[in-house]
Amino acid sequence: MHPLLTIATRAARAAGNSLLRSMENLDNLKANVKGRNDYVTAADQKAEQIIIETILKSYPDHGFLAEESGEQRGDAEVVWIIDPLDGTSNYLHGLPHFCISMAARIKGRIEHGLIYDPLRDELFTASRGGGAALNEKRIRVANKLRLDQAMLATALPFHSAVPLDKYLTELNNVYPQCSDIRRMGSAALDLAYVAAGRFDGYWEYGIKLWDVAAGALMVQEAGGIVTDMSGGSDFTGSNGIVCANPKLFKQLVQALRGQTVNV
Ligand code: IPD
Ligand code: CA
Ligand code: CA
Repeated sequence: MHPLLTIATRAARAAGNSLLRSMENLDNLKANVKGRNDYVTAADQKAEQIIIETILKSYPDHGFLAEESGEQRGDAEVVWIIDPLDGTSNYLHGLPHFCISMAARIKGRIEHGLIYDPLRDELFTASRGGGAALNEKRIRVANKLRLDQAMLATALPFHSAVPLDKYLTELNNVYPQCSDIRRMGSAALDLAYVAAGRFDGYWEYGIKLWDVAAGALMVQEAGGIVTDMSGGSDFTGSNGIVCANPKLFKQLVQALRGQTVNV
C-alpha cells in the first residue's frame, strides 16, 4: 500500500471508531439541517477533525478540502478531499450503510482513494496505475455483458440538481431494461461496490467532489468507465455521473437516453 494510503487508513479507522461510538447514542445526536435532506451532526464534524489531525501529524504541509470544514491550504501540493461521513441520512436513521471517503489530489490530479465502511470493516483502496483493492485483495468490476442482467445503483436527485421529472424519465427508461435497481444512500459506497463487482453500474446527479473523488478513481482502477452524462470528467452537480464496466457502460447510457438496448 502506498505510504499516503497507510496514513489515510489510520485516519479513516480512527474516524470510523468515533462514528460507531456516536452511533450508540443516536437519540442524543443533534442534526443541523444544511438543506433539504442535507444534515450535519457533531459525529460528522468529529470524524472530520480526527482525519485532518491524523494526517497533519504525519504531513504538516498537506492541504484539505473537507465537506464540513471547507478548504485549508487548497494550494498545497497534496490536498486531501474528505467526506467524513457519506450516508449521513442513513446514519441518522440507524440504517447500517455509510462510510468515510478520502482522496489524495497531488498537483491537481486525484492519485489515491480510500473508502472505509466501519460497520463491515471493509477498506476499499485505489492508487492511479496501481489497481483497486478491498482489504488489500485486488478487485475488478463485474464482467456482466448484458444490461438485462445488471444490478444498478442510483439515487433520487433530492438536492434538485436536475428536475425530478427528468430523472424519473431516465429511471423509467432504464428500469424495464435492467435486472434491478438499488438506492442505498451512500454515493461513495455505490462506487466502491461497482469497483468490487457487487453493482454492475451506477448513475446519479447532484454529487459533490468529496462524494466521488475516491470512488471514481476506484472504478477506473478496477477496470470500469466513469464519465459525467456528456462523456466528460466533471461529475459534480447537474453534470451527473455514470459508470459501469466497458461493455455495459454503452448500454446503460443508451438506455438512460431512452433507446432500446439490443444485445
Ligand atoms: C450523500 C450520499 C447520498 C447521495 C447524495 C450525497 P452525505 O452524501 O452520498 O447517497 O445520494 O448525493 O450528498 O450528505 O451523506 O455525505
Ligand atoms: Ca457525501
Ligand atoms: Ca457527508
